Amino acid sequence: MSLRRLAPPEVQPASFAFNAENTEWAKATIAKYPQGRQASAVISLLWRGQEQDGWVTHPMIESVARMLGMPFIRVLEVATFYTMFNLEPVGTLIQVCTTTPCWLRGSDAVVDACKKHIHPHEHTLSADGKFSWMEVECLGACVNAPMLQIGSDFYEDIDGPITEQMIADLRAGKDIKPGPANSRRSSEPEGGATSLTDTALYDGSIIGKYKVAAPPQPALTDAEAKKPTQAASDRESPKQKPPGAAT
Ligand code: FES
Repeated sequence: MSLRRLAPPEVQPASFAFNAENTEWAKATIAKYPQGRQASAVISLLWRGQEQDGWVTHPMIESVARMLGMPFIRVLEVATFYTMFNLEPVGTLIQVCTTTPCWLRGSDAVVDACKKHIHPHEHTLSADGKFSWMEVECLGACVNAPMLQIGSDFYEDIDGPITEQMIADLRAGKDIKPGPANSRRSSEPEGGATSLTDTALYDGSIIGKYKVAAPPQPALTDAEAKKPTQAASDRESPKQKPPGAAT
């Protein structure tokens, strides 16, 4: 279990405020809950605040507490309990999956690229303050392993050099494209789909295109042909009822 506490005062900003869009969103989110249950929105508001500023600050916790009518300590408890909340500046956080499928497919090289171009240790800001990285458990994209996550986007089918290029592009302020880094479309096989390729499947014209014949029935042997069916056999010799059973 890790010790989680807020970043020291010298790192904290002087204030926090949701921007106009997030303020409207927060009002609508709080209004979803019955009167007196506004505290239920605490995780949503902290998450939105983190999306806006990159990490959860002391003034943000105070602000969320005021918005929800909660004591500061209650919001602090939530922020420090859940590891998804960053309690110090993280820059662009690169989450590298190192669970078995990604590891087997080369996640060590992805981690090495992060160590080389960000910092030798995870959870540590790069010298320019722009990046940090961390290892995470399976992110559910094993079919495109190895992969990493930045923000809400997945970057898949990567390797060491691709990761290095991604970090360099981000550092230079360039956009990088989410999804598979090779020729794959989504999680299709490399080179394209190999099954369910008939476009008629997807435009409705499949109906009536294929005639499906009834499967051939095996011929009965002479003995099977003479054997009475179970229903006929039951009619001829009804099952014995247990003693005392109702008639
Ligand atoms: S093991 Fe990496 S996404 Fe599942």
